[in-house]
Amino acid sequence: MTDAGLAARFPADFTWGVATSAFQIEGAAADDGKGPSIWDTFCRLPGTIADGSNGDIACDHVHRLEADLDLIASLGVKAYRFSVSWPRVRPTGQGAWNEAGLAFYERLVDGLRARGLQPWMTLNHWDLPQGLQDIGGWAARDTVAHFVDYARGMHARLGERVHAITTHNEPWVIAVLGHEKGIFAPGIRSRATAVQVAHHLLLSHGLALQALRDDGCQARLGIVLNMAPAEPMTDSAADRHAAHLCDARDLRGYMDPLFGRGYPREVLEELGADAPWVEPGDMASIATPMDYLGINYYSRHVASAGEPFDPKAQGLPVTDMGWEICPRALTSLLLRLQRDYALPPVLITENGAAFADTLVDGQVHDTDRVDYLRTHIAAVADARDQGVPMAGYMVWSLMDNFEWASGYAKRFGIVHVDYASLQRTPKDSALWLRGFLQQWRTRPAGGGA
Ligand code: FCB
Repeated sequence: MTDAGLAARFPADFTWGVATSAFQIEGAAADDGKGPSIWDTFCRLPGTIADGSNGDIACDHVHRLEADLDLIASLGVKAYRFSVSWPRVRPTGQGAWNEAGLAFYERLVDGLRARGLQPWMTLNHWDLPQGLQDIGGWAARDTVAHFVDYARGMHARLGERVHAITTHNEPWVIAVLGHEKGIFAPGIRSRATAVQVAHHLLLSHGLALQALRDDGCQARLGIVLNMAPAEPMTDSAADRHAAHLCDARDLRGYMDPLFGRGYPREVLEELGADAPWVEPGDMASIATPMDYLGINYYSRHVASAGEPFDPKAQGLPVTDMGWEICPRALTSLLLRLQRDYALPPVLITENGAAFADTLVDGQVHDTDRVDYLRTHIAAVADARDQGVPMAGYMVWSLMDNFEWASGYAKRFGIVHVDYASLQRTPKDSALWLRGFLQQWRTRPAGGGA
């Protein structure tokens, strides 16, 4: 299918966007009264970040805001998904607010609106204030109330000017990678803690939605989940069981409670004494209706009862992260969600790929990334054609940035960042996206409606 044909499959009200997160791009880690986050702390522990780097400068976005906003606008997207650094606006997570931090996000939001772009604001993209970690972090139930208070404060300041507010980005990553495997901040290794953290994240999401609606919020409210649909490696009963358990833990473990079904029985059984502490009313709060669901999709997960699946060894296409490129699994994921849950409008809030790009004479010919984006956008169109309420698609990421434990070595941007000069250079994928969106805007009348 041609790009024009693909573009014509999307309606006029479809939300095209690019995404980033605060810690990954902002830098200015201790400027203007910002407090430290758990990621500032984690980066300083030996051996945590592949290239020994940190977020002190990152893409220096705080000091380059206006130029970056112009860059976003130049792509022809309708929306920009960004996150607020909680310790920039409230240095220890509670108590005094930091006016300089609030003013930065005000400039960001107003700058987007002045350029005709919708602000999609995420409250928690992992950089919890270190001050809250010091008193228990997400494992402590008090953090739920601190989050709701932070949400209300951000809403009071910016709620009327943002299009959407996302509570959390990928609670699974915070819980499992941060508190069970310990490879992300805060680097804890305890399954019981991770399970309690996941519960507190979901609870704080539901309670924040209720509080913001009580405060008269008009912005759309939702959560963003990472999803890698589990498929069995072979048709054996053991592999199928492994896939079923993975799905119950990683996907249904979040979707079921959010959609009013409680935690999956088989997950609670498997957890035994590690099951979360749940208080009366928690499950009803978690199931507070959302205005949209955000899904971050990068790859499928192939489950096996024996040796772990290695896509590269199987000769399958992979990205620079080693993640298999599998757009088909995105369509089947979306169809399955549509079958199993009463979905609100759904957006792909992240999709993209890291490749080992090279900048030559001011150009990056990232044809592999263009292919990745095109085939995944087509996968979204396929799901939409079959009735899934797809409302948007956002590319991860606007620009190369700090890829967590991988440091700066993995490049996900459609815009190249030279970390020595901090110069931004649109890659071929950025130019492709701009052209694709141009075709979408000028598609034949009635196309894709
Ligand atoms: C997601 C994160 C995002 C980015 C991509 C590659 O899990 O939400 O910040 O790191 O992966």
